[in-house]
Amino acid sequence: MADGGGTSNNVYIRSDEFAWIPARLVSQDKDTAKVAIPQYEAEEFIMSDGGKGAVGFKSAVVKLKDYPNHTLPLQNTGKDGALLEVDDMVDLPYLHEAAILFNLKARHVKALPYSRVSDIVIAVNPYQWLTELYADSVRMHYAKKIVWEKSDRDPRIGLPPHIYEVSSLCYKGLALNKENQSILVSGESGAGKTETVKICMNHIATVQQDPNNKSDEESLVVKRILDSNPLLEAFGNAKTRRNDNSSRFGKYIMLQFNHIPGKDGNPPRAEMAGSISEVYLLEKSRVVTNEDIERTYHAFYQLLDSADDVKKEIWKGLVGKNGESFRYVGPAPEVLVDKMTDAQWFPMVKEALALVGIKGESFLTLWRSISACLQLGNLDFAPDPSDDEKTVITSKTEFTDFCELVGSDEKLMELAFTERTIKTRGEEYKVPLKHDIARESADAFAKEIYAKVFLWLVRAINDATCAENNYPGGANLTYGLIGLLDIFGFESFPINGFEQMCINYCNEKLQQKFTKDIFAAVVEEYKQEGLNLADIKYDDNSDVLGLIEGKLGLIKQLNEECVRPKGNDGAFVSKALKSNKTVPCLIQKRTFGPLEFGIHHYAGPVIYRAQDFVTRNTDTLPGDIKKAAEACKNEILAKHLSNNSSTNTTSAKATDKGPKRARSNLSADTVMTQFKNQLTSLMTGLETTKSRYIRCVKPNTVKRKLVMQHITTLEQLRCAGVVAAVTISRSAFPSKLSHDEFKNRYHMLNEAKKKGGYASKQEEIEHICEQLLKTFETTRKDGTIAKGFAMGKTKIYFKAGCLERLEGSLALIWDKWAIKCQKIARMFLVKRMILRKKYEKFASAVLPIQCLFRAAISKKKTATQKKDKKRLKRLGKKSKKAAVRIQALLRGAIQRPRYKQALLKKKEEEDLANQLDKMKDELQQAEDKRKAELEDAKFQFEQEMEEYKEKLEDQLRAEAQKVNKSAQQQTLIDESGKIIEYLRKENMKLRQQCETMKRDYKSLKENNARLMEANASASNSFNQLNEHAKGLNATNARLIKNVDTYKKQLVKMKEDLKNRQAFYLAEAHARVAYQKTLARIVAQVQDKSRDAQLVEDVVIWALECEAEAKSERAALENAGQAAPPGAIGGAMPASGGAKSGGKKKADDSDSDSDSDSD
Ligand SMILES: Nc1ncnc2c1ncn2[C@@H]1O[C@H](COP(=O)(O)OP(=O)(O)OP(=O)(O)O)[C@@H](O)[C@H]1O
Ligand SMILES: [Mg+2]
Repeated sequence: MADGGGTSNNVYIRSDEFAWIPARLVSQDKDTAKVAIPQYEAEEFIMSDGGKGAVGFKSAVVKLKDYPNHTLPLQNTGKDGALLEVDDMVDLPYLHEAAILFNLKARHVKALPYSRVSDIVIAVNPYQWLTELYADSVRMHYAKKIVWEKSDRDPRIGLPPHIYEVSSLCYKGLALNKENQSILVSGESGAGKTETVKICMNHIATVQQDPNNKSDEESLVVKRILDSNPLLEAFGNAKTRRNDNSSRFGKYIMLQFNHIPGKDGNPPRAEMAGSISEVYLLEKSRVVTNEDIERTYHAFYQLLDSADDVKKEIWKGLVGKNGESFRYVGPAPEVLVDKMTDAQWFPMVKEALALVGIKGESFLTLWRSISACLQLGNLDFAPDPSDDEKTVITSKTEFTDFCELVGSDEKLMELAFTERTIKTRGEEYKVPLKHDIARESADAFAKEIYAKVFLWLVRAINDATCAENNYPGGANLTYGLIGLLDIFGFESFPINGFEQMCINYCNEKLQQKFTKDIFAAVVEEYKQEGLNLADIKYDDNSDVLGLIEGKLGLIKQLNEECVRPKGNDGAFVSKALKSNKTVPCLIQKRTFGPLEFGIHHYAGPVIYRAQDFVTRNTDTLPGDIKKAAEACKNEILAKHLSNNSSTNTTSAKATDKGPKRARSNLSADTVMTQFKNQLTSLMTGLETTKSRYIRCVKPNTVKRKLVMQHITTLEQLRCAGVVAAVTISRSAFPSKLSHDEFKNRYHMLNEAKKKGGYASKQEEIEHICEQLLKTFETTRKDGTIAKGFAMGKTKIYFKAGCLERLEGSLALIWDKWAIKCQKIARMFLVKRMILRKKYEKFASAVLPIQCLFRAAISKKKTATQKKDKKRLKRLGKKSKKAAVRIQALLRGAIQRPRYKQALLKKKEEEDLANQLDKMKDELQQAEDKRKAELEDAKFQFEQEMEEYKEKLEDQLRAEAQKVNKSAQQQTLIDESGKIIEYLRKENMKLRQQCETMKRDYKSLKENNARLMEANASASNSFNQLNEHAKGLNATNARLIKNVDTYKKQLVKMKEDLKNRQAFYLAEAHARVAYQKTLARIVAQVQDKSRDAQLVEDVVIWALECEAEAKSERAALENAGQAAPPGAIGGAMPASGGAKSGGKKKADDSDSDSDSDSD
């Protein structure tokens, strides 16, 4: 099939994983179709977008027999392949469940939760609060446009789908047309029914307000109505797997309005006067048992999380307790309802209770009854040790507490739990109960108390809100009603029990009404379009209802089983199957177990297992417990356990229109019978209203915003009857198009145009359809021909397959056109090819000529180039010469000042060098002078020493002659020699010092040389860096200063040297003189004195003197005086000499004493 750029090859195909997925039809034969399936990353990205968001395509072949009318459902896509998204899905050209699914999905991902299917509003749970969607301005806009603006057309035109349109239409119908209204909200758990009802109620409360005449009393009733919602939620809602705030009961709230006639040209109004609520099927079993991840009713947690002083006032047994203290509650996950904890809810609930009059004693009674339920879970029963058939209560304290709490006699209550009274004709006797039965009784008691507390609460709310009690005029007025039904949606699980049967029965009832209403709407549309109503057919569900509530139906069979002695579930199933064998909607299979049967509901088949059907249907509290309860002091237990009514006001006109309950019948009290009566009453009430439908859809099971899972959504659409509604509205003609749409799209199908043209657009359309849809014509029973299409006033309707046929024809035409286009394109291509070949031939001939021409041109060009080259060479030489000259001049001009500057610097440098040389010369001179002086001093000293030596030798010689050259004299001479030697050494030392000073001088010289080097490098730097001249000058000045310093140091050192030399010389003279004198004294004494002791003493004195001199020198050394070490050490040989000399003298004092006396 050719792609004509339209929608005809964009189809949907079935998918096991995603229910329906978009695909592109590639080709098709009788039984199969080849498709290209766009592949998306995840389910949430799958869209009818012509594969734009796809990551690839996959080919597949599908069997056409799996699709209705052997045709793949077409996508509603535009020329670009994008989805044609609509507000009202009835406007979809191709209307089928895939189209509905993808339209809803496209809107859901754009946070547009509401859509329409004609009058039905589909509300997809957005799982996020869309503030803008419910803003006051939006509320007022809908109210203004729908309620207050006068218009002959549908007031919804131009308004996006919204539940405010439903509430506004209801109010308008009630206030202006005085017709009772109802809003039927359905959907599966978590789909948003309760939220939707609340939003609608709030909107109605706003719309009804008369801004000019608002009194406090009126506001109080409205406040009570709106604020009683949290009460019902606290006691009737619980956390379940599917919804954290799941309503575990059905609810029908009837808002009562007083009609106020219009005045002064204003339209009539309806003023909210009160409300009455009816509740259905509270899930009692949740009180005693629930799954781990679920919870029991919020009220239990709110009570247990309340403050201890509150608990104490209610019942002391609650103080310090939590969920885990009570078996029925146990540990449970924390749940936030409207972002508030259970503890935060308790005061809110208390306030709401006070608002409906439950305060003081009745407040305590309510919570004590709830506490009684809790306490019943903690009672333990065991077989009586004395008799197995009997039971004893083992948790005595818990039981006593319970009795105290409910105000019961312990013995009476104990017997009620452990015995059963059996009545026979006129006789009464008691049988003991086994412990497990006793336990079941306690559970049944707890469930019954909770259920009746709930009803008691509903009655209290109704009393506080109903117009009969609270509106001026009370029961004497007739009120208009807007009913809001928030009831459990259709349920189908792998195992379905008694509760599912009740729920699905209720949904069948509602579906029946829904179907009728939709049918009525279709009839209305056909009438308006002027179509033949005989063509409309639809299947209703009366057979299913017959099976459930008919004369031989399931309810009847079950009730009979409940009143029959030994009635049981198996017998119920077999009887029910037997009596309804021929009913087609009853499913019986050989594979079913004895308790299993199935029903083909409108939403699909459901298999039920009748386990405990009889018990659950009977659900009566044992008479003994009932009696014991009636004897309790707790008012709810004593007076309200038998009250099954939701209202105290028998005059609730809206509710008492149902049939009177058959109280005389034994089965009147079964759960099913009660529920059937309630439903009948509800349906009767609804029949008197104009019903509007809101179908809530839960888009995913993970409670995430903007995500739509196909399978779960589609199942809900089926269960909610949306698909059925579409089927009904399209039962005769599944597709429709406006005249304009048809003409735009299919005008090219009119290949055999009528000569002379058409009188109208309709005529032309009819002509096209008659030509193409002849095969769809059928003959009716009355012999008339039923065409494949029906021409309405504004639209044209098509039977199944007609539009697809038109699409097929259109595709053929597009094929034709495509072939024509291809023809032209190919012709053009061939012509271009021929031209190309011609050109190539021509080009091959032209080439040699081009070659010749190009060669000639090239030669000419080369010659010119050569010429130019030569000229350029010449020119180059000249310009090189000129450039060299210019460069020379320029360089000269640049270098000259530099050279001058360099010369200047050199001169400065030479000056510096001269200065240095001068300084060097001065230094040298100073050194020479010092050397000469030193040499002179040395020479002088040596001469003196020589003279002294000679003198000494002369003296010695003379003395030796005098004293006959004694051995001692020889010794003295030796000593003198030693002294001389010592002096020589001293001289050597002085020389060494002189050497040291020379070295110092050398180092000074080296310093000087380094200075000169520094100076030289400074000069170099000076030469290289003119800008550093100042720094160099400073360095130079510093150097000069250093030279001065060194000069001064040199002068100082010279002086020092001189002083030292003088000192050493003086020292040496003194030392020699001293030695001489001492030697003389010692010699004299030794020679002259015969007193050995004296000699001895003198020698000792001499030695002491020596020691004194030594110590003085040491002191001098220590004091840091400049006594050169050589001079200090130099005295030692003399002292040593004196000492040894002294010793010798002492040895031969007699012989030498005279010689020394001189
Ligand atoms: N219009 C809405 N806007 C925002 N959130 C919504 C809306 N409707 C529903 N929800 C969210 O979905 C949750 C479930 O909604 P709700 O309790 O109304 O479901 P339900 O159909 O009454 O379920 P159940 O049958 O279990 O009572 C709400 O708690 C809320 O978080
Ligand atoms: Mg709910």
